[in-house]
Amino acid sequence: MSGFFITLEGPDGSGKTTQARLLVERLRAAGKRVEQTREPGGTPLGAALRAILLHPEATLMALAQAGLAPADTPGEPMSPITEALILSADRAQHVARIREWLEAGRVVICDRYADATLAYQGYGRGHDLGELRTLTRIATGGLTPDLTLLFDLSVEEGLRRKRVGHAEGEEINRLDLEQRDFRERVRAGYLALAAEEPQRWVTLDATASMGDLAERVWLAVAPRLGAG
Ligand code: TYD
Repeated sequence: MSGFFITLEGPDGSGKTTQARLLVERLRAAGKRVEQTREPGGTPLGAALRAILLHPEATLMALAQAGLAPADTPGEPMSPITEALILSADRAQHVARIREWLEAGRVVICDRYADATLAYQGYGRGHDLGELRTLTRIATGGLTPDLTLLFDLSVEEGLRRKRVGHAEGEEINRLDLEQRDFRERVRAGYLALAAEEPQRWVTLDATASMGDLAERVWLAVAPRLGAG
């Protein structure tokens, strides 16, 4: 495959989505052909799966209003394995697209990918890591990023940023409601994953200013792509 596959990982509120946008702009300015995408929700089917994952009650209500689900069913909590399977279904659908782009020689920037399942469903929820690795291998067909940028942030700072975001009208999703100890496990999980494969991961301090962080992202990416 002739393209280059970059994934962005980190806790909610780490600024990785803004950094993804800045990186895409800079790569395009350097003449690279770039595709930007995300998980969950990188395909039309994935957008529907994302709604189920992040807003299951609202989704069920909409289905009931359309006559496609029983109107009297109370919401029930999503089981951890259901969550992992829906994320994997989203990923399986998405990977076909990513492969096409890579085969066409594109740089693909993906906001979250399989490592998020290991961090959130594995370290966070306590689901067996070996099983999750098998599941993600089935979903990805073994497609692994060439480079993964970890936007590391303390739980305290992540929560502070989320509060500011919510006050400014950002949506609150089901996973945003998770407690502090869950977030601590996710962070520790990401750091453990990064330590396991130091040649693939670059860990960045996400408390840096937007401009400094963008510069560090560029320093990690540009030499690998022979870009300016
Ligand atoms: P999103 O609003 O996209 O958050 P962010 O902008 O921080 O990426 O919501 C995605 C949520 O889904 C986020 O809380 C992380 C979670 N998630 C998992 O738990 N497992 C996964 O495999 C993926 C891809 C995401």
